[in-house]
Amino acid sequence: MRLDLNGLLERTAGGDGIGADAWAALEPELVRVRDVLAARRGAGALRFADLPADKDSVRRVLEAAESVDGMFDAVVVLGIGGSALGVRAIAGALPQEEGAPRLIVADSFDPDAFGPLLAALDVRRTLFNVISKSGETAETIAQFMIVRDRLLRELGAVDYKQHLVVTTDAHQGSLRQIVNDEGFRELVIPEGVEGRFSALTSVGLFPAAVAGIDVQELLAGAASVDDRRRAAASPMEDPALVLAGVLWHLATRHDKRTLVLMAYCERLAATGDWFCQLWAESLGKALDTAGRTVEFGQTPIRLGAADQHSQLQLFLEGPRDKVVLFLRVDDHGGGVDVPATYQDLEGVGYLGGHSLGELLNAEQRATELALAKRGRPSATLLLPAVTPFTLGQLLYLLQLATVAVATLADVDPFTQPGVEDARRLAFGLMGRPGFEASHDEVESWLATKDPRFVV
Ligand code: PA5
Repeated sequence: MRLDLNGLLERTAGGDGIGADAWAALEPELVRVRDVLAARRGAGALRFADLPADKDSVRRVLEAAESVDGMFDAVVVLGIGGSALGVRAIAGALPQEEGAPRLIVADSFDPDAFGPLLAALDVRRTLFNVISKSGETAETIAQFMIVRDRLLRELGAVDYKQHLVVTTDAHQGSLRQIVNDEGFRELVIPEGVEGRFSALTSVGLFPAAVAGIDVQELLAGAASVDDRRRAAASPMEDPALVLAGVLWHLATRHDKRTLVLMAYCERLAATGDWFCQLWAESLGKALDTAGRTVEFGQTPIRLGAADQHSQLQLFLEGPRDKVVLFLRVDDHGGGVDVPATYQDLEGVGYLGGHSLGELLNAEQRATELALAKRGRPSATLLLPAVTPFTLGQLLYLLQLATVAVATLADVDPFTQPGVEDARRLAFGLMGRPGFEASHDEVESWLATKDPRFVV
């Protein structure tokens, strides 16, 4: 995998690009970030970064996957946010092994989505993997309760357990207590790994392994990025650090408050969704680590090639508040070719003999240049092909880059205080004991709504 930064430079993007002085000034900043991250990692505070080398965890995942081999036609993940988006990224990008259980990620708790999904499943041939780090997430716990009830009714009090694997914290949370009490098969999420950094733990790897995806290659890809980081003489040669540096520079010095991830590969669409959560939840913070108000963040948007015909116009000519990060894939595989018909019709015949992959890549290049011509900065992550190895590289690189931007902005990437507030309010509304004050808070706020302004 390579990172092309040409489109972000002043000589391509003009005044909105990064000039030679700014580029030179980034290096010492990034040397500082590299040292800070190395110290944190040494102190065990960047646990996600060590995952590619964690042979024990992957062995446990493979053993667990082996233990359910041949027993199921589908594996359904019940989880949300970081406990679902990583698995969705892996499932979306990589083909499953033929004959392996179909991998379904049920991260919607909308009754119109979850109800029909359950109704269509043969639960006797389905394995449910309940994933929650906190073990307290209402959406996931509700799904679990519904599924467990159905399993109990259809399979009886002995066999139902065979259909559940719970992935949660080793010590804390209601789900942990349930596992301890009922003795479900379980996998542990390593301590210190937040949901959005957990794609390469049992969270992402177990369902992927059950579906026959080569999880060792995923980890090997991630490890190769770590090796490259280690070998880089300067942070400007380390793709994760330099990507973090330029995006942070553009966000803070050129007011590029929106990061548009344009994936010219449908298989990477879910990876784009995963990235949006990673970038938004890790970087969007009111306070810096010293408690000062910063209200930092850069809004991520995920688009694909078809969005050229919906939103690109805005990016080319609208507000200059965006930077685009392309995901480009050299080889789209198997390929679908356009037949050489209508050869006598100029406006159509030229497409004959080209593959749709070629068309995708031509469109990406054209969009890149169209942006550059208008002084709109962009960078491109180039994957030779979408494989377990390159996906592992991509996931790991983007996690490192996120943490590096957080270091530059001096915000904590591993917390989500705003979301916790919303969770507490929802607990209160749903009547969870201990959250009566949250319930009252919502009720008194609702009472302040003036009906004259509800039209
Ligand atoms: O990244 C995160 O930490 C969050 O998005 C969580 O993954 C999400 O809230 C689900 O939490 P849990 O895994 O505790 O159910």
